[in-house]
Amino acid sequence: MEDATRTETPPTTRLVDYRPSAYLIDTVFLDLRLAPRETIVRSRLEMRPNPAVPASGASLTLDGEALTLRSLHLDGAALDAHAYTVTGEHLTLHQAPVRPFVLEIETSCDPEANTELSGLYRSNGIYCTQCEAEGFRRITYYLDRPDVLAVFTTRIEGARDETPILLGNGNPKESGRAANGHHFAIWHDPFPKPCYLFAMVAGDLACVDDRFTTASGRDVALRIYVEPGKEDRCGWAMDSLKRSMRWDEEAFGREYDLDIFMIVAVSDFNMGAMENKGLNVFNDKYVLARPDTATDADYANIESIIAHEYFHNWTGNRITCRDWFQLCLKEGLTVFRDQEFTTDIRSGTVKRIADVRLLRTQQFPEDAGPLAHPVRPEKYIEINNFYTATVYEKGAELVRMMRSLIGRRAFRAAMDLYFERHDGEAATIEQFLRCMEDASGRELGSFLRWYNQAGTPLVTVTTAYDAPSQTLELRAEQTTPPTPGQPSKAPLIIPIAFALVGSKGDLPVTNADGTPAPEILELTQASQVWRLHEVTERPVLSINRGFSAPIRLNASLSDADRLFLMGHDSDAFNRWEAGQIYAKALLVKLTRALVEGRRLWEDPAYSEALRSSLLDDRLSPALRAELLTLPTEGDLASEIGTSIEPDAIHLARRHLSAYIGRSLRDELRQAYHRHAVPGPYSPDPASAGNRALRACALTLLAAADAASGAQLAWAQFAAAENMTETFSALATLARLDRPERDAALEQFYERAKSDPLLVDKWLALQAVGPFPSTLDRVRTLMGHPEFSLKKPNKVRALIGSFAALNPVAFNDRSGRGYVLLADLLLALDPVNPQVAARLAGNFKSWRMLEPNRQALARRQIERVRAGDSLSRDLVEIVGTILA
Ligand code: TRP
Ligand code: ZN
Repeated sequence: MEDATRTETPPTTRLVDYRPSAYLIDTVFLDLRLAPRETIVRSRLEMRPNPAVPASGASLTLDGEALTLRSLHLDGAALDAHAYTVTGEHLTLHQAPVRPFVLEIETSCDPEANTELSGLYRSNGIYCTQCEAEGFRRITYYLDRPDVLAVFTTRIEGARDETPILLGNGNPKESGRAANGHHFAIWHDPFPKPCYLFAMVAGDLACVDDRFTTASGRDVALRIYVEPGKEDRCGWAMDSLKRSMRWDEEAFGREYDLDIFMIVAVSDFNMGAMENKGLNVFNDKYVLARPDTATDADYANIESIIAHEYFHNWTGNRITCRDWFQLCLKEGLTVFRDQEFTTDIRSGTVKRIADVRLLRTQQFPEDAGPLAHPVRPEKYIEINNFYTATVYEKGAELVRMMRSLIGRRAFRAAMDLYFERHDGEAATIEQFLRCMEDASGRELGSFLRWYNQAGTPLVTVTTAYDAPSQTLELRAEQTTPPTPGQPSKAPLIIPIAFALVGSKGDLPVTNADGTPAPEILELTQASQVWRLHEVTERPVLSINRGFSAPIRLNASLSDADRLFLMGHDSDAFNRWEAGQIYAKALLVKLTRALVEGRRLWEDPAYSEALRSSLLDDRLSPALRAELLTLPTEGDLASEIGTSIEPDAIHLARRHLSAYIGRSLRDELRQAYHRHAVPGPYSPDPASAGNRALRACALTLLAAADAASGAQLAWAQFAAAENMTETFSALATLARLDRPERDAALEQFYERAKSDPLLVDKWLALQAVGPFPSTLDRVRTLMGHPEFSLKKPNKVRALIGSFAALNPVAFNDRSGRGYVLLADLLLALDPVNPQVAARLAGNFKSWRMLEPNRQALARRQIERVRAGDSLSRDLVEIVGTILA
C-alpha cells in the first residue's frame, strides 16, 4: 500500500480553518480479534449529521492509515464499490445520509509491523495501543478528531494462552470463552470521549491490586499491570496513585468517576505515559521502582507522572480539547496541577527550582530558535511535533500567572466553574479564560496574547533610590524578540512579584497615599514606572520572586547585591536565582577569557557565599544542593547566544567547579560524610535531599581533584546499597577520564544486563563522557545487542543523552557528532518517525555555533533533509530548523 504519511510536500493544518464536524458519532461498538500479523477490527458506528452544521449531508470522509478494508455496511446493507473511495489516508462515502445511520466497517491491521508505536502494536509480546494524537486511525476508519465524542463499548478477543489478560476503557462488563482456544472480554466506558483516549491492552501480565475509597464513599479498584516477575516494583507507583487521587479531591474537589482505574507498564513507548480513560498506559520506566533499580530522581518522576496522567481524568478527559491547537488546554493545565501536587507533598522551593531549570534548559532555547511557536500554535504539519516544552512547561507557567493575577481564591472558583460549565465538552483556551474572568470579575482579554505570541520576553528593570525623600523609582521595560513568522511583538501583561530587601529583611513598601504597595507589579506597557514611598534605606531589589513570570530578566544589580541576596533574600527561590545569575555572569566572562586566550581567575567572594550556603543548617540539604549546582553548559550557551564555542564553555565551567571544590574541600568532605543516610532506603524527600547534597559534594570534589574524586566515587560505588548512591558514583566516574571509569561501567553492566531499565542507565552514562573518545564509544554501542531502533528508551538513553547532555562530544570540532546524529536520524525515521523528529530537535541551536561548527552542522542537517521518503514528522522539523 502507498504510504500516505511520507509525501513530498505534506499539507499544513491551520487553526483558522477549524470547522465543526459535519457528522457526529454517538456510540461505537468495537470488536478486536487479536493476532500478531493480522488483527481483525469490526467497528459499528451510530452516526448522525451534526445539527450545528447547516450544510451537512454531503460526503463523509473518515480517517484511516495502514489499514486493509475488508467490508463496509451502511444500515445493514453492503456498500457498492462505487459508493466509496479508499486512499492511503481516507475512506470517503460519496453520499452519506442526512438522518441517523449505522456504519459497520471491517478492517485489519498488522500490530507486529507497527514500529511507529502509534495505533495498535506489540511491545515484548504485549498488545497495546497509543492513539494520541492521531493513532486511532491506524486501528479503524474513524472521525479522528478530538471534538467527536462517543460512548465506546469494546470487545476484545484473543488466544487464551497468548493473551490471558484483556483490558479496555471503562468498566468490565462480560467475559468468557470463545472458539479455538480463544476468550473475550467486553468493556464499557459510559463517558463520551474522543478516540484519542481509546485504549486496549492484551497479553500475559501480572497485576498488583489495591483499592481507594473516594471522598463521597465510592469504592474504586486500582490495578497496576506489569510483566510477570516485576510485581515487586509497583509499590511506589500505587502509593503515588492513591496520594494523587486524594490530592485532587482536596485541592480541586475532583473525584474519580469509574469503578476501576488501571495502569499498564510497557517497555516500548514513544513518550512518558498516556491518560486513556480508566486505562493509563505507561513507559515502564515511569512505573517500576525498587531501591536497587531506581534512583531518587526515578521515584520523583514516577510520582509526578502518575499524578499527571491521573489528573488528566478531569483536565483532558472529562473536559477535552476542541482541536489539537488547544493542546495546552489539557497539557499546560495538567502540568500546572502536577507541579502543585509535588509542591504540596514535597518542598515548594526545590520543586520550583526544578521546574525553572526545566523551563530554562528546554523551553527558552526552543523559544529562541527556529522551532519557536506560541503556546497555542496556529499551524502545524505534524501535530506530534507540538508536544513540546512550550506547550507543556510554558503552558503551565501561563496558568500560574493567571492565578497570580486573580489570586488563589478566585482561581479555585474559576476552576470549579470550568469543570461545571464544560464537563463533557471539547473546549478552547478562550472558554477557559472566560471562566477565569467570570469567577474573578476581572477582564483578561489581553492575557490571550501569551497564548498566541511566541518568544521569551526580556524585561529590563532599573531602580533609582532617593535617600532624602525615601522614595524608590522602579522602571521596567519589556521587549520580545522576533520569532519565525512573528516579526513584531506586542507588550504582554506580566505579573512580577518583588520585594525590597533591607539590612534587616524585607522593607514595608507603600504607595504615595500611604497604602501598602502590591507585592506583584503588573507590567502591561512597553515601559512603566512605579514610585514606592517610605523606603527607609537603600534596598536591594528582589525581583520576579518565585519566578512569577517566564521571562528573561535584566536587572541592574551589582555583584555585591547578588551575593547579598544569595545569603539574605527571604524568598528562597530568589536566593537560588541570585546565585545562578552571579555564576552565569562569571562563567560567561571566563568563557570569553578562554576564547581570547586570556588567563582565568578565581572568585573568592562567590566561593565564600557558597560556603555560607553549604554550612547554613536552616536550609534543607536539598536546597543547599541546588544552591551549589552551577548552571549547565546548555544554560551558558543560550546565555551567550552567538558564536558558541562549546569547548570553552566546558572548560570555563570546569575551572569554576574545580575552584569551588578546592576552596570548599573540607566543608564538602564533611557534608559528604555527615549527610550519608543510614538504614534501609526510603525515597522520602528528606532522605533524597541528603543524598542529593552528597552527590553534589562528590561532583565538586571530583572536579577539584580527579584522582581522589575517582577514589571516593569508586568507594561509594562499591559500598552503595541503593541505586541512587550507585548511580551518583557512576555518573561522577562516567565524566572522569580515569581507569576507575571503565572498571565501574563493566561491573555495572554485569548487574544491568538482565534488566532493560538498568541497561538504559548504562547506555546513557557512556554517552555523557566529555571526551573525544565518547564518539566512537557511542558508535560502538549502537551495534550492541541491547540497542535497537525499535526501542525508544534505548535510543533516547544513548543518542538522546549524547546529543542533549554532552555538548563537548556532540559538538566535536571534527563535526563527527553531527554525522552520528544525522546517520541515526536517517536510519530511525523509517522505523519510528516520532522519535526521530524529536531527536532531530537537538540540531535546533545550530545557528548559534561558531562559524566552523555551524557549517559542519548545516551540512548534516541538509543531508537529513535530502533523505529518501522522509516522514512528515522529520520533514517538518528539519525544514523548520533550516528555514
Ligand atoms: N498525553 C500524554 C501526556 O502528556 C502525551 C503522550 C503520550 C503522547 N503518548 C503520546 C503524545 C504519543 C503524542 C504521542 O500525558
Ligand atoms: Zn499530559
